[in-house]
Amino acid sequence: MKTVGLVGWRGMVGSVLMQRMEAENDFADINPVYFTTSQAGQAAPAFGGKEAPALKDALDIDELKAMDVIITCQGGDYTSAVYSKLMAAGWKGHWIDAASSLRMKDDAVIVLDPVNKNVIKDALHNGTKTFVGGNCTVSLMLMGLGGLFENGLVEWLSSQTYQAASGGGAKHMRELLTQMGQLNSAVADKLADPRSAILDIDRIVAETQRNGTMDTTNFGVPLGGSLIPYIDSELENGQSREEWKGQAETNKILATGSNIIPVDGNCVRIGSMRCHSQAFTIKLKKDVPMDEINAMLNEHSQWSGVVPNTKEATIRDLTPTAVTGTLNVPVGRLRKMNMGPEYLNAFSVGDQLLWGAAEPLRRMLRILLE
Ligand code: HSE
Repeated sequence: MKTVGLVGWRGMVGSVLMQRMEAENDFADINPVYFTTSQAGQAAPAFGGKEAPALKDALDIDELKAMDVIITCQGGDYTSAVYSKLMAAGWKGHWIDAASSLRMKDDAVIVLDPVNKNVIKDALHNGTKTFVGGNCTVSLMLMGLGGLFENGLVEWLSSQTYQAASGGGAKHMRELLTQMGQLNSAVADKLADPRSAILDIDRIVAETQRNGTMDTTNFGVPLGGSLIPYIDSELENGQSREEWKGQAETNKILATGSNIIPVDGNCVRIGSMRCHSQAFTIKLKKDVPMDEINAMLNEHSQWSGVVPNTKEATIRDLTPTAVTGTLNVPVGRLRKMNMGPEYLNAFSVGDQLLWGAAEPLRRMLRILLE
């Protein structure tokens, strides 16, 4: 049985990973060893009812070196601090990472096995040791639209994202809710009075958003009642780094080599909790009938599925409220666009903590256990 070191298991992504590993009974097939950056020596948790030794120091290279597999959700700074030291010490195990720092390394594979199991298998066969989860919008896009990519139909794709607070982290989710509460408090008395004027309510909300009294420690500006059309850092070409990842990671996941599929768009933070939504304009390589498109999307995996393009089905099944906490990545609003029969409109929703973060990691572990 493989000894698996778990780092960052207490954080938000790590906690979702532990939940998923318990739900899928993964702990029955591994010897877990829990690492900590602050509480070495304390009792370990017993996820899945599996006993584990006392917590180990996550910076202790000798302890890490004893692992067959390490899964880290501790973040990029930890990866930067530890990974190269561990490799330099001659470690021969497999490194599975949620952070982005190693994603684009030539000898690392971005894991999303319902989409690129062949790439993962080839890499394992060739001795690759480093497996990294993809950016959440990219992974969720590929989970939703996998059928079109699998059939080689995508000439290019533009994505307009509606990204949840959780993409920033746990503190961001709290801050969003705090902001919503602050806005509500500012107008609660007027809301309770049906005769109050809506424009007075609106003015007070805007004043509250602008007067510096809202908690904006993490987002920098109010997200509640607003949106933020910039995610991650600035690049010199005008893209945000989040937007840059779209093409870079999609093509790396699919191993397109020199046949790059152009992917670009706008990444926007909105006030949902943990579901990222995306509106797509997809240029197909040829005019494909809608029933064939629906079938390809439905059949790609057990988690992909088409929501009929009706108002009733869309508002019921294609929202963060409907999807949150599930592994489903529904795609809807499917129709040909005015630009021509090769232009497809689509909209998807997916939980960014599941397929966008934790799930590809635990599935990579399962592949190593096969
Ligand atoms: N960069 C993503 C976001 C997080 O900010 O929403 C998950 O990759």
